[in-house]
Amino acid sequence: MLKIFKDKVALVTGGSTGIGRAAAVAFAREGAKVVIVNNSNIDAGRETVSKIKSAGGEAMFIKTDVSNANEVKEMVNKTIKAYKRLDFAFNNAGVGDTMAFTADLTEEEWDRTIKINLKGVWLCMKYEIKYMLKQGGGTIVNMSSVIGLVGLKGSVAYAASKGGIIQLTRTAALEYARMGIRVNAVCPSFIATPMNKRLIANNPKLEKTIKTVLHPMGRLGEPEEIAEVVTWLCSDRAMFVIGHPMVVDGGYLAQ
Ligand SMILES: NC(=O)c1ccc[n+]([C@@H]2O[C@H](COP(=O)([O-])OP(=O)(O)OC[C@H]3O[C@@H](n4cnc5c(N)ncnc54)[C@H](O)[C@@H]3O)[C@@H](O)[C@H]2O)c1
Repeated sequence: MLKIFKDKVALVTGGSTGIGRAAAVAFAREGAKVVIVNNSNIDAGRETVSKIKSAGGEAMFIKTDVSNANEVKEMVNKTIKAYKRLDFAFNNAGVGDTMAFTADLTEEEWDRTIKINLKGVWLCMKYEIKYMLKQGGGTIVNMSSVIGLVGLKGSVAYAASKGGIIQLTRTAALEYARMGIRVNAVCPSFIATPMNKRLIANNPKLEKTIKTVLHPMGRLGEPEEIAEVVTWLCSDRAMFVIGHPMVVDGGYLAQ
């Protein structure tokens, strides 16, 4: 079977678990060598690597905190040292399991969310793009959310970070549109991942609300359903798509 990402290299932040893991597996299935990045969940990251290798693919794990500039710079250097290229970057790592109304959110929680979700995506793009320019091109997908497009009570820092990611995406897409680098974002609704399990555990009514009100399809999304869109956005089939926050939401925003 033709593998569309043969000889390509994909980097996935937050690739140990959830949507990142599904995307890492999807890139590998299409023939890419995959770099899985995470600051914690190290065993789960190594499990993702094993899963890919046992299916005949190639992958490695790099421990990196995406909110730390030196570590992000090293993440790109190590990728190039190991695999000689960087074709696709899925800047997916993020946090979002704390819910508090605006007046109750602590400054520490605000700073943590913005630092990982928003600064982390910018830092990753900064070093990925520097290399992609030298290489002559590449494709980036940033992880936003439907909560980057609409509000959600109790999610002020998360919503601000995810809305900010859409603007980072649009701006970078314009800047590098003529230099062979395409930048897009993906905006999922509620997906069945460890992050959502924690969120639902802390807010027991949320699962029922998602299934009966928020998602017209009556279920949560699956990580693999997001991975499909991410790999499509990276492929040449999406050649004319740039600066786009692609919604994948089982109808959440259609209502
Ligand atoms: N699950 C959903 O419903 C949903 C919806 C929309 C967007 N998202 C976004 O998808 C992304 C992935 O989340 P998920 O749902 O798969 O949950 P998840 O918790 O399984 O994945 C997030 C991963 O990011 C890693 N991470 C956190 N901080 C990091 C840091 N500083 N450096 C490196 N890695 C770090 C975590 O260890 C974890 O492995 C997040 O950005 C999240 O905001 C999730």
